[in-house]
Amino acid sequence: MAKAPGTGTARKTVKKKPVSNASKAGGKAGGKTGPGVNGKAYPFVDHTFDVVVVGAGGSGLRATVGCVEAGLKTACITKVFPTRSHTVAAQGGIAASLANMGPDDWRWHMYDTVKGSDWLGDQDSIEYLVREAPAAVYELEHYGVPFSRTEDGKIYQRPFGGHMQNFGAGPPVQRTCAAADRTGHAILHTLYGAALKHNAQFFVEYFAIDLIMDEDGVCRGVVALDLATGVLHRYRAKMVILATGGYGRAYFSCTSAHTCTGDGNAMVLRAGLPLQDMEFVQFHPTGIYGAGCLITEGARGEGGYLTNSEGERFMERYAPSAKDLASRDVVSRSMALEIRDGRGVGKEDDHIHLHLEHLDPAILHERLPGISESAKIFAGVDVTREPIPVLPTVHYNMGGIPTNFWGEVLTSKNGDPDTVVPGLMAVGEAACVSVHGANRLGSNSLIDLVVFGRAAGLRCAQVVEAEAKQRDLPEDAGALAVERLDHFRNASGGTPTADLRMSMQKTMQTNCAVFRTGEILEEGQEKIRKVWSGKEDISVTDRSLIWNTDLIETLEFDNLISQAVVTMDSASQRMESRGAHAREDYPDRNDKVWMKHTLAWADDASRKVTIGDRPVHTYTMSNDIAYIEPKARVY
Ligand code: FUM
Repeated sequence: MAKAPGTGTARKTVKKKPVSNASKAGGKAGGKTGPGVNGKAYPFVDHTFDVVVVGAGGSGLRATVGCVEAGLKTACITKVFPTRSHTVAAQGGIAASLANMGPDDWRWHMYDTVKGSDWLGDQDSIEYLVREAPAAVYELEHYGVPFSRTEDGKIYQRPFGGHMQNFGAGPPVQRTCAAADRTGHAILHTLYGAALKHNAQFFVEYFAIDLIMDEDGVCRGVVALDLATGVLHRYRAKMVILATGGYGRAYFSCTSAHTCTGDGNAMVLRAGLPLQDMEFVQFHPTGIYGAGCLITEGARGEGGYLTNSEGERFMERYAPSAKDLASRDVVSRSMALEIRDGRGVGKEDDHIHLHLEHLDPAILHERLPGISESAKIFAGVDVTREPIPVLPTVHYNMGGIPTNFWGEVLTSKNGDPDTVVPGLMAVGEAACVSVHGANRLGSNSLIDLVVFGRAAGLRCAQVVEAEAKQRDLPEDAGALAVERLDHFRNASGGTPTADLRMSMQKTMQTNCAVFRTGEILEEGQEKIRKVWSGKEDISVTDRSLIWNTDLIETLEFDNLISQAVVTMDSASQRMESRGAHAREDYPDRNDKVWMKHTLAWADDASRKVTIGDRPVHTYTMSNDIAYIEPKARVY
């Protein structure tokens, strides 16, 4: 039964005062420059835009294109050159029910996504995603993305885990549109071209330090550091869109780039706003053993399979129907169990084999050239002859900044769990829309980036008036960002950032892994809090402002640690197993108690985390499809 969006039911109220980023000292609003804090000069260069997008990956670029197309004066701030954003590493493809290779339907895609999410996804948002997906892919094609082609010139589509025909009944559907195994690369480069064509203003290698929030809880802009010159820039905007990606680097072994430090998520926490569903961390089944680099699920889509030390195709036991193409949480858990039961491969019986050597070398060359090269470089393996050693590796954060399907950031206020935070949006992996719920299906990430990046642009076109005059910023706007920068720049404790980062990454890897128990999580909470407090003794040795990687890595660590803490706490309080959150002490899903989103606030000063919740949207967007009732999840 469809229900109007935004009519969530009552929830437990979590009392938390919004923290204002506008405090005592700081820059002069509207002027060219302003004085700094602590007697040191940190002059601002001031800018005014209609929209500022932070991040230039797939979602940030798509949002940027949309805003500029709508006639809005738009800036895109990015800490790396746009085409080096982590989207470039996405391999296997982008899901859309084009039906180029056989029957498909957006309703099947919806069913698979809801089931993949283990019924934690918001079904109104999921309907929006899957219905918009085909148009979003054709739009990419028209922008110029060089998709692989079928004999008759259509976009090539491959099978991916958890994507099935006939409302899950099977067989696997070919839904994942691919540009060989470099789909993210193709999309990112094309979108950057589109953004340039539309005259967006890019601030490249600028590190966003903090949001500017006013006393009323309205986001008014952002402060960023130009890494090359050390100059601080203060952006006044009617809308800030966070497109800052995930925080995979909170873990020791991940497929994420070193830049994936969830900077936007941490800014949201510092602004006194919650993050959602942070306990749901996806392990991709096939990271290269040791190196962690991604081997695309497309490898199994093209016919690859996993074996244990006995040469057994063990997925047939765990997922008799979908086998190696079950969803990622299921495959990762099965691999971990095989290893735990002594059937791992290698000298230490601690990994699994992925076989591609039975496939036609011409197919490998045409469809999987990138991973063939990665396997050679990082595992010394010729995929035409030998299996690749693989291990479940942290890959994606289902949790993030709560938003509606327009990308508007949500918080809980006066009993309304869907209260929009004025002036602030989030898209991509930074956001928790929530379409992926407790577990994301492979190739649903790239489509999330472009569908919701586009939605954010459309929303800005509705709510942001181009070039309308903006209120002056408060006198002290941006002061907290300056204080934060100055604090870490002059940190003279005894513990190098790298040591604290390593402790955090090892703790997350050990205590918040594929399988979890209350005891291990409690130990993790204690250990991760030690690292959190360890910030007081942090040491930064480089005091300069120009290309100070010591300082930037410290700011990134500071961002990561708050997310690590809320991840551990969120995992500890959820006493059930759902999607990627597998509790051995609570092995079953418990819809009666736990079919709700977790919200987590973190107060850095008091080192306190507050947990609340938000109802899952158990309604669809239209009457074209009914709410998909929860049931047992088998593949
Ligand atoms: O396996 C892959 O190619 C990854 C895709 C994804 O995470 O969506």
